[in-house]
Amino acid sequence: MGLLSLSMREFRCFAAAELEFSPTTNLIIGKNASGKTSLLEAIFLLGRGRSFRTPYLGTVTRAEANGFQLIGKVTSQTVPVIIGLARINGLLEARIGGQQAENLAQLAHTFPVQLIDSQSHQLICGGPRQRRQFLDWGVFHVEPAFFPTWRRFQRALQQRNALLRAGKPQREVDSWNGELAAAGQLLDGLRRNYLANFSITATDWTERALGGLKTSLEYQTGWPNGRDLSEALQESTTRDRKAGMTQVGPHRAEIVIKVEGEIARERVSRGQEKVLAGTLLLAQTSIYRMLTGHSCTVLLDDLAAELDVGHLGRFMEMLAETHAQVHITAIEAPIMVARQATRVFHVKQDKITAMV
Ligand SMILES: Nc1ncnc2c1ncn2[C@@H]1O[C@H](COP(=O)(O)OP(=O)(O)OP(=O)(O)O)[C@@H](O)[C@H]1O
Ligand SMILES: [Mg+2]
Repeated sequence: MGLLSLSMREFRCFAAAELEFSPTTNLIIGKNASGKTSLLEAIFLLGRGRSFRTPYLGTVTRAEANGFQLIGKVTSQTVPVIIGLARINGLLEARIGGQQAENLAQLAHTFPVQLIDSQSHQLICGGPRQRRQFLDWGVFHVEPAFFPTWRRFQRALQQRNALLRAGKPQREVDSWNGELAAAGQLLDGLRRNYLANFSITATDWTERALGGLKTSLEYQTGWPNGRDLSEALQESTTRDRKAGMTQVGPHRAEIVIKVEGEIARERVSRGQEKVLAGTLLLAQTSIYRMLTGHSCTVLLDDLAAELDVGHLGRFMEMLAETHAQVHITAIEAPIMVARQATRVFHVKQDKITAMV
């Protein structure tokens, strides 16, 4: 399950590469600047339609080329399918099974991919947006109603905000309240359903990962407790006008992550932050499998850095329990990582060689 092959053209430092992956654990070894992260970036891009390193896809094209092309064979769902992503002369095109994809969400649905890297701890110490995106990745992948509802909500929010910014009369602003509240309440319900499943696994796994420390996840809707969103919108009229944007709704939701009853970022070390974030991301891939019956692909960029043997060992154990396809990079792989690998690649001078 996962990505079985990848063909890359003009991507970052790679002029051309053809790779066959193991459906279980792939280890990618190479020195600094050899192209390890670039390979993970290509896989991520194929599943998400965006890079984790840059919002500017022009920079991922190899210097002096005028576009890149990625083609992969995935079996994340029941039957193998060929997916592709290309950027030629500034235009991005996604294809699934020979057809042009309707949108990038379709690509994400076909090839679910999750990344754990040196920035993942932002899930703990960064702003609420990171945690909302994290939550919504999970809901999107297990709940078909999520994407259309989210689009409906975003459209209503953008329209209402445009009217607020332009200082239009209140009745015009309020004309979007019904749609915003209806879609917003639906989104909220989908998130809560998901969290009910997710929290049980997440708190169990994070306790194991942190050697017994108790973690909790607390969902805050984005508007005052005990209120309908439509009431909350009415009540926030003055604030909305002042800010020029809608101040209440699921776009303001937060997941408060606590460790031993305290806000996680105030309580844990940097290494523990990494373990906590990584474990929450792993727990999501496990829930994805439990709720859909399909596996997800997990990318781990230089995981061993900054984790001691105990934390790394527990993390690797949980990783194995997710049954995800894994692509893990390292400059030198610790034994406990190397022994899980079923395929090893060496990256050197922008060339990738399969070793076993
Ligand atoms: N658009 C591009 N065209 C050509 N080369 C690029 C492009 N973007 C990045 N590079 C180069 O690709 C090389 C590989 O970068 P990458 O980040 O993948 O290395 P890495 O193996 O992950 O290194 P590290 O261990 O330091 O994280 C670097 O030398 C980088 O400068
Ligand atoms: Mg790197």
